[in-house]
Amino acid sequence: MARVLVTSPLSIDIRPILAGHEVIGGATRLDRAALLAGVADVEGLVCLLTDRIDAELLARAPRLRVVGNHAVGVDNVDLAACAARGVKVGNTPNVLTEATADLTLALLLAVARRVVESDTLVRSGGWTGWEPGQLLGADLAGRTLGIIGMGRIGRAVARRAAAFDLNVVYANPRPVDGSDAIHVTLEQLLAESDFVSIHCPLSASTRGLIGAHQLAAMKPTAILVNTARGPIVDENALIAALAAGTIGGAGLDVYAEEPRVPEALRRDPRAVVLPHIGSATRGTRARMATLAAEAVRDVLAGREPPNLVRT
Ligand code: DGY
Repeated sequence: MARVLVTSPLSIDIRPILAGHEVIGGATRLDRAALLAGVADVEGLVCLLTDRIDAELLARAPRLRVVGNHAVGVDNVDLAACAARGVKVGNTPNVLTEATADLTLALLLAVARRVVESDTLVRSGGWTGWEPGQLLGADLAGRTLGIIGMGRIGRAVARRAAAFDLNVVYANPRPVDGSDAIHVTLEQLLAESDFVSIHCPLSASTRGLIGAHQLAAMKPTAILVNTARGPIVDENALIAALAAGTIGGAGLDVYAEEPRVPEALRRDPRAVVLPHIGSATRGTRARMATLAAEAVRDVLAGREPPNLVRT
């Protein structure tokens, strides 16, 4: 029997998956100090994307063998430090692809068709009736969507975009098979796209990928959507671009320093700001918890989980 620490309440009870092990935590969200103290004598850890799994934590966890990260993104985990210590890492690929792609389209439509502004107008009691020029938004059919990062989620967004008659271009290190979308450089994508949606992982090479220069290269009417990771976009440059009218709007689910959302974004009617809910459906969150727990279970049993993160 091993000890497994769970750093937060999850959407399902994962104890049955970890039957035979002593599961501790999971009743409240552990802060950093409690996490560092809690890993002292555990072999397994089920953690969230908000938990930093770094060299400091590993130094406090001499018995740790496996981390089940309740997220597909592993930018919160120092994979090199884990590998150096022989700690295996599992994540949650595939299961959140469709939910995140759905939310991407929801954000794109919300910004393009001014859904939140319209809802606010009605709720405020300020709507005085139908007007030909009221709350005009952007057309989608025949326009171009640029997808940055054509992995599982990028491809799922491209499939949905086809139903809206959007032309799709994408920037990706390599062309992908089986997609009608056109592979272009990032520069081409920024210049040609009416909507730009980010779907690459956060890494050293994508941090700040969309900065002042890239925003200036976009159409002044373009809408930027980010459901990936906040630090891929230079948030101050985005705020400046919105203020200057360099771009037309932004749909954001992620931020540079969550849960802080800059006031300038919260106040800007051309921005729709969501609280990192890309994967927040009941079924998806249940599958994420299951996968994270199964990775821990498998490694503790001496098996390689299918969702092992390779370094
Ligand atoms: C992930 O799994 O990386 C997502 O951001 C969670 O919604």
